[in-house]
Amino acid sequence: MAGSADIPIEVVAEQPDAPNDHGGRQPYIAFEKVSKAFGSQTVLDGVSFFVMPGETLCILGRSGVGKSVSLQQIMGFLKPDAGQVLVAGEDIVGYTEAQMQVVRRKVTMVFQNGALFDSLSVRENVAFPLREQRTLMEDQIQQIVSGLLEMVGVAEMAEGLPSELSTGMKRSVAIARALAAQPQAILYDEPTTMVDPLIARLLGDLIQKLKHQLHLTSIVVTHDMRFAERLADRVLFLHQGKAHFFGTMEEMKQSNDEILRQFLTLDALVLPEG
Ligand SMILES: Nc1ncnc2c1ncn2[C@@H]1O[C@H](COP(=O)(O)OP(=O)(O)O)[C@@H](O)[C@H]1O
Ligand SMILES: [Mg+2]
Repeated sequence: MAGSADIPIEVVAEQPDAPNDHGGRQPYIAFEKVSKAFGSQTVLDGVSFFVMPGETLCILGRSGVGKSVSLQQIMGFLKPDAGQVLVAGEDIVGYTEAQMQVVRRKVTMVFQNGALFDSLSVRENVAFPLREQRTLMEDQIQQIVSGLLEMVGVAEMAEGLPSELSTGMKRSVAIARALAAQPQAILYDEPTTMVDPLIARLLGDLIQKLKHQLHLTSIVVTHDMRFAERLADRVLFLHQGKAHFFGTMEEMKQSNDEILRQFLTLDALVLPEG
């Protein structure tokens, strides 16, 4: 799947307004004291964190702690009750749906089920964001799509329908489709849940390759500690509505915090939940 084929950088990595001054220390994505409740249930209570351009943040925490809710607020599908959500240097909290559509060209999300169009072939699913741009010729579109399918290791399934794919392959196609939009940042919600360990490793290889070759800013929600260790520049551990830990992987491993240690120990023993 994620073989040795190089990413066709010339077709996907063109990011004219990417913040490429890494010395500038301006986060690409950040939460500033974000709170979110559903009715009487407080999910997030003053959570702050940031992701620098080109970095990967892994979000860890028990089921129901607000990991997906955090991603959905970055995409503007949910709005916080208080606080700021910064994306590409802008506070998007007050943004209209039309403004969010512009933001969603820079930041894209890979959903767990892939969210593919069932009636479109794999090839047409990946071509979709390119057709929406209305700027490319058909042969350019086909060339980019073929490159992306090759890169994520599903080229041989190009003419098939999503229903013919395994869960792991669906996720690979969803990643290819996300990349077709030429995003600057990509959010993954539990990419390795419900696939076998081999596929999990291949998806991990792919995400790592995207990080190193395309310098995409990424947020990965995961239960998989080995996965987090491979990918994370920083880790956010959510617990009882708070950013219980936010720091580098090294800092996390050295932490003596009781709750964090408990999570890490249990996580090594217990099968991940959805
Ligand atoms: N749209 C929604 N409406 C009401 N409650 C929600 C909604 N989305 C999430 N929740 C609740 O918020 C909590 C956090 O959910 P979620 O972020 O999905 O957890 P996880 O950390 O497992 O991804 C859960 O208790 C969930 O039931
Ligand atoms: Mg979730």
